Amino acid sequence: MTTLKPEDHERLAMELVTFAKDELQRRKKAPILIRREDIDAQLKDARFPVHMVDPRIGSNQKTFRFWKHKFNSGADAQWKYLGHRHTVEGIIYVEKGEGYSVIDGIEYPWKPGDLICVPMFAWHRHVVTSTEQMVYVAATTGPLSMYLGLAVYEDERFPEHWIFADKGEESLKTLIPGKTDAPEGSTKVVLGPQAVAMSKADQLYLDALNYAPREEERRRAGRVQVRGDELVFEPTRIGRIAPAIEPATGFHVQTIGTLFAEIPPEKKSGAHRHSYEETEYVISGNGYSIVEDQRVDWKEGDTLCIPVFSWHQHFNTGKQTARFMVHHNRPYMQNMGFLMVEHGEDADQ
Ligand SMILES: [Fe+2]
Ligand SMILES: [Fe+2]
Repeated sequence: MTTLKPEDHERLAMELVTFAKDELQRRKKAPILIRREDIDAQLKDARFPVHMVDPRIGSNQKTFRFWKHKFNSGADAQWKYLGHRHTVEGIIYVEKGEGYSVIDGIEYPWKPGDLICVPMFAWHRHVVTSTEQMVYVAATTGPLSMYLGLAVYEDERFPEHWIFADKGEESLKTLIPGKTDAPEGSTKVVLGPQAVAMSKADQLYLDALNYAPREEERRRAGRVQVRGDELVFEPTRIGRIAPAIEPATGFHVQTIGTLFAEIPPEKKSGAHRHSYEETEYVISGNGYSIVEDQRVDWKEGDTLCIPVFSWHQHFNTGKQTARFMVHHNRPYMQNMGFLMVEHGEDADQ
């Protein structure tokens, strides 16, 4: 064990006290605007996703990442059988191409404008059926899982890195670590929901044992897809909003969510700030935003990274409706008990 000096203990204790104010200065150094042309230039020859937002590249967003990538069509672009799964929640927005995703064994077709939401640790794969390349942007909570030391990515192309999955058919059916490779005679996974509690404390222990299978049932009962043509925008005091992926719309998401926001030509959104992280991907339109004391001009294909607790407001200066796809970690903040939203000016109606 490391033996610390008294001043080390003091420094560690004071770091917590000074963190919030220091963090404000750190946030100011992180980029707010990610420009489309910079991303598209990198995408041209990219074999791996082009990272736009990720704490590992200095972004203000600490819990989720956001990237752009492409899939070629044809057999070599298809996942073979299992595909892959990961201990992150993921949201994919299709910009070009058609195909389908298989999630927990069920096929979901998609086309441009659709969203696919991959639940925690669900086996999934994506297949492009159109002849043109598929282009997509995606967000996952990979950084949060990495920070927790629980970023597990099991991919059928790299079984040597698997730690939970069995290599057989059974791996498709469970998210329970060790279920399919329990040593013979082991009772660690055979207690099941019928087990009778020995005491109140034992009931708590049984609840913990049964959490993973119950959670798997809940996630499989949830929605995993939003079609672009089914979005319904409604007036709110922060602007015109179409809720897309969140618990209230039937998705079993615990950490990440998505909504769409619209600003009519020459109108402005409301102003607010919040404890959750947010990125805004410009689907259409052009204008500018005020983020705390900075003005940022944006156009179609750009991404805005809104730091936590920064006041922000958007202005559409163009002749067409501006539309944003907004990813946020509001479900996670709510689960943490630290969801705070403060409203400033109302949006133009
Ligand atoms: Fe995935
Ligand atoms: Fe916001």
